[in-house]
Amino acid sequence: MTQQTLSRLADHLREAHHVAALTGAGISRESGLPTFREAQSGLWARYRPEDLATPEAFARDPALVWRWYAWRRSLVSDAEPNAAHYALARLEEEAPHFTLITQNVDGLHRRAGSRQLLELHGDITRFRCARCGRYAPTDDLPDEGPPSCDCGGLLRPDVVWFGEALPGAELEHAAEAAAECDVFLVIGTSGVVYPAAGLTGIAMRNGARVISINPDASAAPAGAVQLTGNAADLLPRLVELAYSA
Ligand code: OAD
Repeated sequence: MTQQTLSRLADHLREAHHVAALTGAGISRESGLPTFREAQSGLWARYRPEDLATPEAFARDPALVWRWYAWRRSLVSDAEPNAAHYALARLEEEAPHFTLITQNVDGLHRRAGSRQLLELHGDITRFRCARCGRYAPTDDLPDEGPPSCDCGGLLRPDVVWFGEALPGAELEHAAEAAAECDVFLVIGTSGVVYPAAGLTGIAMRNGARVISINPDASAAPAGAVQLTGNAADLLPRLVELAYSA
């Protein structure tokens, strides 16, 4: 893509009253975290995330699912936010109105300073009881298997698993932002998991300019302007061009 395209998109960004962004696993790729559909490594290579991130998998083998999340948490705690996360934190300060919607559970947006954040799929570093729903402290949790809550239920990560409902208030707020924004950025997501993927359609139908940032051009939603490349490279350039003048 040319500098001219970036400058034109930066103009749209600067002129927008409300900017919304939807992020997926790709934005954390440059922080060293594997994306959801990439092969897992090491011991976990033979499992598909789709077979572990389900209530059925947890009911069948709670220790296996718990250990997989412990491994993913260790990757997250070793990772740092990258330039793309920081660019979105800056965008929140610069745009008159900004909403950040993420499918990620890694907490890197918050660690980069984003505050107007809707975490649609939860947070891998929080825990709640699978039976009574009570939140649990996060210190001293074992890696081998889930501890029990006072009610006798097992603790689980506070994430949304396949087949589970998304948090209603967050999803509603995200849909409102998609409907009201002037520019909708879709960053590092394959756009295949609903209802999050449906937000792009809502934005488009309501007249937002949709900009997709992804190294895989085929992941861009139809009708979006494509910036083909890494988010950690392109997003800081776009935000800098928009607000440095
Ligand atoms: P995916 O793993 O499906 O897609 C990651 C996307 O990031 C792909 O389109 C890649 O091309 C793109 N990508 C890779 N490197 C990138 C980079 N450096 N910069 C920008 N983009 C890059 O992850 P998600 O779309 O986030 O849900 O997956 C959505 C949901 O599917 C997850 O939240 C999870 C899973 O089911 C639940 O667990 C409920």
